Amino acid sequence: MASILQTLTGSFSANDPAPAQTGAVFPNVRLRRLRRTPAMRALVRETHLHPSQFILPLFVRPGVGIRQSVSSMPGCAQTSVDECVRDAQAAAAAGVGGVILFGIPEHKDAIGSGASDEHGPVAEAVRAIKEAVPSLLVITDVCMCEYTDHGHCGVLHGDEVDNDATLALLAREAVMHADAGADIIAPSDMMDGRVGAIRAALDAAGHAQIPIMSYAAKYSSAFYGPFREAAESTPAFGDRRSYQMDPANSDEALREVAQDIAEGADIVMVKPAGAYLDIIRRVKDVTGMPVAAYQVSGEYAMLHAASERGWIDLERAMLESLVAIRRAGADIILTYFATTAARALMASR
Ligand code: PBG
Repeated sequence: MASILQTLTGSFSANDPAPAQTGAVFPNVRLRRLRRTPAMRALVRETHLHPSQFILPLFVRPGVGIRQSVSSMPGCAQTSVDECVRDAQAAAAAGVGGVILFGIPEHKDAIGSGASDEHGPVAEAVRAIKEAVPSLLVITDVCMCEYTDHGHCGVLHGDEVDNDATLALLAREAVMHADAGADIIAPSDMMDGRVGAIRAALDAAGHAQIPIMSYAAKYSSAFYGPFREAAESTPAFGDRRSYQMDPANSDEALREVAQDIAEGADIVMVKPAGAYLDIIRRVKDVTGMPVAAYQVSGEYAMLHAASERGWIDLERAMLESLVAIRRAGADIILTYFATTAARALMASR
């Protein structure tokens, strides 16, 4: 039976009687009435994009005055710390809520020693950005793949990524980031137990107040292609299917998310975003946690490539893709469009 409210409003879901039985049908109901003018559409809009909930990914490398563009990601670059601060300032000026930093170290080795180098590009960038723009949230990606010479997200035992041996290294990296002044720690490695290990290490180091945003449901995705050029983190052999999730799975995403929450995650992330909107919705509905979604490099590259060919309008497609991610249930969006989208939203006000 339809409720009185449903009858009055004419709203119904798949399980309710057909709209005809609620009495609210054409010609009494004309859904186009509320679509006639921009003001009318704005009045009934259900989902809004807020630049304060965008996070801009940045790639930091050693050196000074370096801005090396990433060919598959127009508008994105690997930069030295000084240039990275400029990008952070521009993002903050546009109202973007935060940045997430990825490091490209001077040297790579089998155990990814550079990951916990307190004078590495990430640590230096954290300090420089916090000094230049204190109000901008600085998040650090915690993983080994940019730092290992084999490009995997953990240390190897034979040809396999050794889960438990990797945990201590991730924890050390996270503590180093927090010591440098990071506001939020974001582990993206997909080792089991890493949120708990990082939480314990942060607490022991006096960083009990630093939140963890875990890449909780991170899929083994072809859409990460351009990022691996940007972060120089392509695996030297094999792939990441033994630690990242199978794109065919949805129930498993809820188990991953539940594990991370049990271990102390404060924000849970779904990644990629566009092809995983169903996962975002399930995670939001089931957990009620702050949910982040990562619109990844391949999603960004595809929109740019199609617009370069004149096949789609970049600005419209960008804003539509972002609002779809919000509508699916994400509170926070990590996107290479962050500054551009924030400016577009400002201009449209
Ligand atoms: C590191 C990491 C990756 C991304 C974010 N963190 C790459 C990967 O897992 O291969 C992908 C981001 C993107 O494609 O934009 N583990």
